[in-house]
Amino acid sequence: MLILAYVLIFFLFLIIFLTLLFFINPLFSFIPFVPVRRKVLNKIISALELNDQSILYDLGCGDGRILFAVAKTNPSISCVGIEIGPFPFLLAKIKNIFWGSKKVRILYGNFFKLDTSPATHIFLYLFPEALDELLPKFEKELKTGSRVVSCDFEFSKKKPSKIIEIESLGWQKNKRLYVYDF
Ligand SMILES: C[S@@+](CC[C@H](N)C(=O)[O-])C[C@H]1O[C@@H](n2cnc3c(N)ncnc32)[C@H](O)[C@@H]1O
Repeated sequence: MLILAYVLIFFLFLIIFLTLLFFINPLFSFIPFVPVRRKVLNKIISALELNDQSILYDLGCGDGRILFAVAKTNPSISCVGIEIGPFPFLLAKIKNIFWGSKKVRILYGNFFKLDTSPATHIFLYLFPEALDELLPKFEKELKTGSRVVSCDFEFSKKKPSKIIEIESLGWQKNKRLYVYDF
């Protein structure tokens, strides 16, 4: 009986946490916390073309899954994630404490206020409006040779150097990666 009560309490907390995670986020950002599918993580990592000296930023990192996947594949890469939604941020922080790496830093805040100049690689999974707002910042801050990979959405005023098709199923998210070289 007691075990059943614990299980019920666990599920209750889980439901409250997930509700906060997905439905409270819009109070902090107009972009919802919709993480990329785990199935496409490898495709994202290979599109980034990282090396040992790479510094990867995920702007709006959600639960940090891309950064953790990168750190697992190559522990010498420095990874920085910034997230404005308190619940995905907390989730990423907890994941970093328990399963992360010293090379992954999770920051709380607005990516428009973050200096992106140290980044050699940037990953984005954001709406086109946010991408277009970020473009002038990237043009000012990023070093020549930096690479930006955007999932599903593209800059309206910059041509990608490569488009990588992930999946052709019409209803799926994460169908395409847009690769930009600055
Ligand atoms: C579509 S999710 C992508 C999460 C993660 N990058 C991934 O691919 O799994 C976009 C995230 O960006 C965050 N976000 C939106 N605007 C932001 C801002 N100005 N600063 C920091 N994070 C922001 C949202 O809270 C949301 O969690």
